Parts: sequence; C-alpha cells; structure tokens
Amino acid sequence: MFRKIAISAVSALVLSSGAAMAAGGATYTEDVDFSFEGPFGTYDQLQLQRGLQVFTEVCSGCHGLKYVPIRTLADEGGPHLPADQVRAYATNFSVIDKETGEEREAKDSDNFPANTGAGAPDLSMMAKARAGFSGPYGTGMNQLFRGMGGAEHTYSILTGYTGEEKEEAGTVFYENHAFAGGWISMPPPLSDDQVTYADGTPATLSQMSEDVAAFLMWAAEPHMMARKQTGFVAVVVLVLLTSLLYLTNKRLWAGVKGNKHA
Ligand code: HEC
Repeated sequence: MFRKIAISAVSALVLSSGAAMAAGGATYTEDVDFSFEGPFGTYDQLQLQRGLQVFTEVCSGCHGLKYVPIRTLADEGGPHLPADQVRAYATNFSVIDKETGEEREAKDSDNFPANTGAGAPDLSMMAKARAGFSGPYGTGMNQLFRGMGGAEHTYSILTGYTGEEKEEAGTVFYENHAFAGGWISMPPPLSDDQVTYADGTPATLSQMSEDVAAFLMWAAEPHMMARKQTGFVAVVVLVLLTSLLYLTNKRLWAGVKGNKHA
C-alpha cells in the first residue's frame, strides 16, 4: 500500500514538474520572513495598514480587489482601523450601485471596486492562487519546506525587475525573474520613496513590497490565524485520540496476543 502511494506521489511530482518546465521554466522566488508564517504566526497590524496605503496609492490604479469587503479593514486580526476611518476611507472609491445602476461614492458596506485596468488581474485571491508556484519547476516544494507562499511570490514580482524591457506586438514587456516566462506586462509599479508612511517607516522598494504583499495575503486569507488555531486544536485532539485508541487496542487484544507469546 505504502509503495503504491509513494509511486503515485513521485510520478505526480515528475509529471507536474514536467508541465511547469514546459510552461516556462523555473522562476526565482525570494524567501521573506513574514510575521504570519509558522504555526503561531499572526498578521502585523501596522504592516497591513502600510500595505493598504501602498495598495490604495499605487496598485488600485490598475488592480481591483472586488471580493474584499471594505468594512473588514476594521476587523481584529486585520488592519484593525477604527470604524470611522474605514467609513472615511471608503469614500476614496466609487462603485456602481447595484439597485440604481449608477455610479456613486463607495460606502464601508461595499466591496473594494473591481478595477479592470488593461489586463491587470483582480488581486483579491492572487496571494492564494500563486501560493504553490514557487520552488524548483513550480513544484511547491518551497512552500512545503520553507513556508514560502503567495506573499513571497508577490514580493518577488515587485522586486524582481531587471530593468530590461522589450516591445512585442505593440505591448511592452518588462523582464522579471519571478514571473513565469520571465517577461511581465506590468510596468515596475514601485520605486523607493513612492509613498510616505504615516508611521515614519522608510519607504524602500523592499519595505513597500513586503507590506503590500502582507496586505494582499490578508486580503486573500483574512482568517488565517483562526484557521491555524483550529488546526492546532485539531492536531492535539487527534494525537490524544490516537494514543487512546492505541491503548484501547492493546488492552483489547492483550488476552489473545499475550497467550501467543506466553
Ligand atoms: C500600470 C498598471 C499596474 C499597476 C499600477 C500595478 N499593476 Fe500589477 N499587474 C498589471 C498587469 C497589466 C498585470 C498582468 C501582467 C501579465 O500577466 O503579464 C499585473 C499583474 C500583477 C500580479 C500577478 C503576477 C502573476 O503571478 O500573475 C501581481 C501579484 C501584481 N500585479 C501586483 C501588483 C501590486 C502589488 C501593485 C502595487 C504595488 C501593482 N501590481 C500595480 C498592471 C499593474
């Protein structure tokens, strides 16, 4: 049985890495120590607030975040902004009213707008969608062994530009060694001191990339901490249950097995 499982696991790995190689070869993902890694990691509230600022001032010009309700910015475990600030923040955006079909100022009960700037994907789920892509040939090995996931992918894209560009069929592509295929159509969105952080943190390219990557991870997985806690409790319960079962099993068969060896 175990051999069968091992053989199918190995062949799945070989097949998937073959497919990934065909899709454009290895990409480079930087390992970043995010606060939310590990079994007890939590989001850093101030980092999420800085990331929100970067998203608002830079990324939202092209990217939407349409599955994320604006009011969740007030949630504990997230950016945890005061409710009145969230209400004020919402007015930065305009949305199409579902009932009247007309454009109006957004309220905190709305989701972030869906922005469809030329070919820019919605970022609501991006950090999760790309979680398993890193590692040799996109096998996700780095995720398994080093906790590298979608946040690292976002960080690596933002910092992975080489400065080279080329034009193909009227579209400009920028060389980026974190992007599958090596050329991305997103112009480098960040450069040093692009935003001014309210908390005085120096806005280096690396700092902004890390902050916005953490924010997008939260956007894609706001309940990561609760999930980890549940997971931890589940593991404890399973370990307890396993030891009880083991002891019961021993006790139950003690007569039969005991006689054999006697
Ligand atoms: C000028 C418009 C523009 C801005 C500003 C912009 N992006 Fe993009 N972004 C794009 C486009 C276009 C793509 C699709 C690129 C492609 O598929 O070649 C993209 C793709 C991405 C991807 C997906 C990469 C992948 O693996 O598929 C991520 C992540 C991303 N952007 C993050 C950001 C972040 C974070 C910011 C803000 C710091 C930002 N973008 C700002 C236009 C933009």
